[in-house]
Amino acid sequence: MRRLSLALLTSAVALLAAAQPTQAQATDPPEELTLEACGDTRAAVSFPHKAHFEELECTTCHHSQEELTLEAAQGGMEVEACADCHLEPEEADTPACTEKSLKKNPFHINCVSCHKDSKAEDESLSAPTKCAECHPKAESEEEPGG
Ligand code: HEC
Ligand code: HEC
Ligand code: HEC
Ligand code: HEC
Repeated sequence: MRRLSLALLTSAVALLAAAQPTQAQATDPPEELTLEACGDTRAAVSFPHKAHFEELECTTCHHSQEELTLEAAQGGMEVEACADCHLEPEEADTPACTEKSLKKNPFHINCVSCHKDSKAEDESLSAPTKCAECHPKAESEEEPGG
């Protein structure tokens, strides 16, 4: 009995040690995200997160966490969801992510304004600025009534 539990303990330690190196990768920020926490009047938005975080400061978007960097995230820093604060904002002047207006929704303010500025500088960029480019229409919705 004693020998068995020692053997078990040893293999548990070995397993833990083996798990260690992959742990840093487990906390890499997600490469692709689907943004859908704010409502479903429009289709969910596919967001190539990695293409953005490789080029931009984290705080460009994660404005509530000044210390957020790639290294901090890999080290296990918790990242707050935008919807935590923007789905039902506490203050009336905090933009709500349920808004359809391009000027009032925090995602539209953040995503669309940068895409417009980027395209003004370089027309060839693939940054989407039209509703259906981010919220693709289902086949059946495309031509109502026809
Ligand atoms: C650059 C991409 C982008 C563009 C362009 C865009 N949106 Fe959005 N929109 C988003 C994201 C991201 C969200 C948050 C989605 C979520 O979390 O549900 C959102 C949320 C919304 C919501 C609230 C969530 C819902 O589905 O009810 C509405 C309504 C909306 N958008 C309408 C529009 C309309 C209308 C336009 C065009 C005038 C537009 N969007 C253009 C990215 C975009
Ligand atoms: C262009 C905007 C943008 C940039 C730049 C950006 N992110 Fe994000 N990130 C987002 C959005 C939007 C989400 C989805 C948040 C949500 O679920 O509400 C997200 C989600 C995350 C998540 C996942 C949180 C979860 O709950 O799964 C992590 C981790 C993260 N980001 C880390 C980073 C790090 C680290 C950087 C910088 C190296 C960075 N992000 C740069 C927009 C961005
Ligand atoms: C901890 C709460 C919190 C989180 C998390 C948060 N925000 Fe905000 N956000 C706020 C508050 C409060 C305001 C209004 C006051 C201000 O501008 O700081 C705001 C304002 C904004 C604005 C408007 C800025 C302007 O110029 O009017 C944008 C855009 C925005 N947030 C986008 C995001 C995005 C995108 C995310 C997720 C990547 C996010 N926020 C996460 C609390 C938060
Ligand atoms: C500070 C600038 C900036 C912000 C903020 C930003 N983007 Fe972008 N995004 C870009 C640029 C620049 C490109 C074009 C990259 C290229 O063509 O090489 C792009 C491209 C894209 C593409 C197209 C990728 C492809 O492969 O065609 C999508 C989808 C996208 N962004 C979604 C979003 C969403 C959703 C948000 C908000 C959560 C967001 N972006 C916020 C700058 C930004």
